[in-house]
Amino acid sequence: MGSNKKLRLAILASGGGTNLQSIIDQCQQGILDAEIVLVVSNNPNAGALGRAKKAGIATTCINHRDFDQREDFDNAVIATLQEAGTELVVLAGFMRIISAVFLQAFPQRIINIHPALLPSFPGLHVQQKALDYGAKFSGCTVHFIDDGVDTGAIIAQAVVPIFSDDSEATLAARILEQEHKIYPQVIQWFAEERITINGRQVAIEAGKQDKSTLTNPPVI
Ligand code: GRF
Repeated sequence: MGSNKKLRLAILASGGGTNLQSIIDQCQQGILDAEIVLVVSNNPNAGALGRAKKAGIATTCINHRDFDQREDFDNAVIATLQEAGTELVVLAGFMRIISAVFLQAFPQRIINIHPALLPSFPGLHVQQKALDYGAKFSGCTVHFIDDGVDTGAIIAQAVVPIFSDDSEATLAARILEQEHKIYPQVIQWFAEERITINGRQVAIEAGKQDKSTLTNPPVI
């Protein structure tokens, strides 16, 4: 918390934006040493854009349908992020694959949240997949982006139980509650420069505050 400098976040979202909202709220409450400099969506109808505008945050919509090549779309997004002085790229329900050119532009500075305990259940519709499989626990994972789908090094996870009467919606809601806690927490670790990555191993340097909930590693 020492310095006054705030970590400059760009949030990329394609959907409703509840994770974005949790980050907005914690920035506004002064819990995070971070500011959202830009919200980017590929979907003109994303609820996330409305949430950002309501909070007075700059927004850009870059529709992937306007581009023939994935790399051209990514280059347009990269240029926008760089112009805004982005230091950390936060994917929050961003439904596009990140290409190599994007990774090179922000090495080890792109993170994502996934609504399952990776490496179980990568991809889409993962709450239903966990139910269908008969898993007794699921949860969420914050991870670095690499060149695979949901394969990057894991920064933090939170676990929730799965109950026999769960539907996809009830499980998703239980997981989202944890997403809204661990994603802002990881952003704060970045702001405090406490995260180091060595291959697949991500370490969090000990800090002064104890805000641990269901997080592993615990925060000390
Ligand atoms: C979340 O479940 C997140 O884990 C996944 O996409 C969903 C986004 O939800 N990557 P929201 O738009 O933040 O509400």
